[in-house]
Amino acid sequence: MQSLREQINLQRLPRHIAIIMDGNGRWAKEKGQDRLYGHFHGVESVRNIVEGCAELGVEYLTLYAFSTENWDRPEYEVTGLIELLVETIRKETETLNKNNIKLHVIGDVKMLPEYAQKELNESLQITSQNTGLNLVMALSYSSRWELVQAVKHIAEDVKAGKIDPATITQNTLQQYLVTSNLPDPELMIRTSGEYRISNFLLYQLAYAELYFTNVRWPDFRKENLYEAILDFQGRERRFGKTGDQVQKEHING
Ligand code: IPE
Ligand code: IPE
Ligand code: MG
Repeated sequence: MQSLREQINLQRLPRHIAIIMDGNGRWAKEKGQDRLYGHFHGVESVRNIVEGCAELGVEYLTLYAFSTENWDRPEYEVTGLIELLVETIRKETETLNKNNIKLHVIGDVKMLPEYAQKELNESLQITSQNTGLNLVMALSYSSRWELVQAVKHIAEDVKAGKIDPATITQNTLQQYLVTSNLPDPELMIRTSGEYRISNFLLYQLAYAELYFTNVRWPDFRKENLYEAILDFQGRERRFGKTGDQVQKEHING
């Protein structure tokens, strides 16, 4: 019997996997613990999944770590979570570097405390020359925030005479998003049994395959990732065409 890992077709990996890491709070509560305990254990899953993606040769992994709306959680949780995220990134930078992983951050980082911005910038700088897995942390990110800032910048550039509104295309808009240097995710995973997008990459997920699992994020491991990838590989991606067209294209290479 082949292991899940062996069943994966490495020629047909999703180039970009995006994950909504959900369920830390419930995981902790089920164990009679504080929510921060769940976030703390969620870090172990992050390590494991980053390693799993790097081993397989996935090019981009985006992790939704903190949303714009998460700022409205109780102050102790927000502070604890931001500290945990920044400290983890700082501690793991050396390992990222050793494994040729390049860190990116998307989101309204100006909302973060100054020490956190400084730490993040250092890690971004240290890993900037790496050419392996691109690890994108969505921090203080939400799609609606991103779209509003894109519209503002486009309006400013129109006003400054840099672009003519008549020439704006999907490509133009894409260049104003915080993901301008990333391909669209092909596979989006959400853990812990919620069937929603929660303001995550709304524009970029237009044709992503969505995969939902009941597994809570702190329990999510490589095997769960492999299951999601195998599920993805069993799907037919049509991009608006008919199944017959897609199959013909497939045969003709
Ligand atoms: C995901 O777990 C982590 C963040 C949103 C930061 P949650 O904290 O949302 O956990 P649940 O959904 O309450 O279980
Ligand atoms: C989405 O999870 C945000 C992150 C995983 C960072 P939430 O737990 O905040 O989403 P909702 O509130 O259940 O939609
Ligand atoms: Mg949640």
